[in-house]
Amino acid sequence: MVNIAVLGYGTVGSGVVEVIQTNQEIVNKRAGDEVNIKYVLDLREFEGDPIQKILVHDYNVILNDEDVKVVVEVMGGVEPAHTFVKQALEAGKSVCTSNKEMVAKHGAELIQIAKDNNVNFLYEASVGGGIPIIRPLTSSLTCDDITEVSGILNGTTNYILTKMRDQGAAFEDVLKEAQEMGYAERNPEADVEGYDACRKIAILTSLVCGQQVDYEDVHTEGITKITQQDFEYAKALKGSIKLLGTYQRIEDKVYVMVAPFVVSEKHPLYHVNDVFNAVFVHGNMLDDAMFYGRGAGKLPTASAVVSDIVDEVKHMGRNIMQIWEPGKLELGNFDDWKHKFLVRIQSEDIDDVNMDDVKNAFGDVLYVKAPGIANETAFVTAPMAEGAFKEAIQNFEGVISTVRVGF
Ligand code: HSE
Repeated sequence: MVNIAVLGYGTVGSGVVEVIQTNQEIVNKRAGDEVNIKYVLDLREFEGDPIQKILVHDYNVILNDEDVKVVVEVMGGVEPAHTFVKQALEAGKSVCTSNKEMVAKHGAELIQIAKDNNVNFLYEASVGGGIPIIRPLTSSLTCDDITEVSGILNGTTNYILTKMRDQGAAFEDVLKEAQEMGYAERNPEADVEGYDACRKIAILTSLVCGQQVDYEDVHTEGITKITQQDFEYAKALKGSIKLLGTYQRIEDKVYVMVAPFVVSEKHPLYHVNDVFNAVFVHGNMLDDAMFYGRGAGKLPTASAVVSDIVDEVKHMGRNIMQIWEPGKLELGNFDDWKHKFLVRIQSEDIDDVNMDDVKNAFGDVLYVKAPGIANETAFVTAPMAEGAFKEAIQNFEGVISTVRVGF
């Protein structure tokens, strides 16, 4: 029997207990041993819930119990989670977690501590909820040079954007629904401003490049400025608007960003709707692959956490090799990265626009009309460097909005 302890009895923690209890036989068989939840740590009481029998409030009970071999950190937040995880690894316990803030910030350090102590630190649920993506990147796609990873990495914003497009729903109403369904972060700013997706693409890029990518270095834009009119133009371009986290390696420079993009209906990410997430990967041998599934929610996220528990029980006494060095990866200059942009400008109609001015500022553009939209003109630029585009926009009068057009 292998004893485990679950830190945090919130949405994911209670999901972990439910997954193990519901699929106990399957879990035991695949782990090759009986998985027993010995403790649940939480500050709260859960009167009437059978979990109360194994509930503890003091982490030291778990840390000092040599019978606990796996610690499951599903508390969220960087501290005290980071300290608890570090202590567990140093005490010779394997750890798995769904905590993307902690993994993005301390992943390299915790992987090294696990290696030094011949235990494991796994974090499948930290990106893409229930979708297997960490294990495919670290254990399956090991012979490829991966030059792109682009994903819809946040369920809440994908849900909001899908409802805005399909139902013309207001941003605030859909956000409220997503919160009620348990998808959103406690602070929804983390979802809608792109911070959550930023941590996730930083984790994926660190793994692909084998070196630390600081999320603070990732250019991040959210979806709060996206309007119904933007969607009308996206539709006219045979696309939709998606919040993407993207890593691309272009001429040996690594570029990473999170931003809304107009995604063409020809791209597989276009078809990823509602709370679903997907991660598109391009490798030089593999070509294209996409991993799709539920990126948020209690049981899908818990399913990924429990898959890590199974892996850790299977690899007891043996460290699973992962390459994520702590030295910070130097990113390419964001201003040099080229994209096409959808630009909307105020004008009575298209004849009022001085096309020479547009050409001088943005080069050759493609004008685009959207049914029912008056008093403005819109166009799509050729690929322009981010820095040059920013300067052109600052010097151009009457710009209503811009969205990158890219996939
Ligand atoms: N708030 C996150 C989301 C939860 O909406 O995707 C999963 O990380």
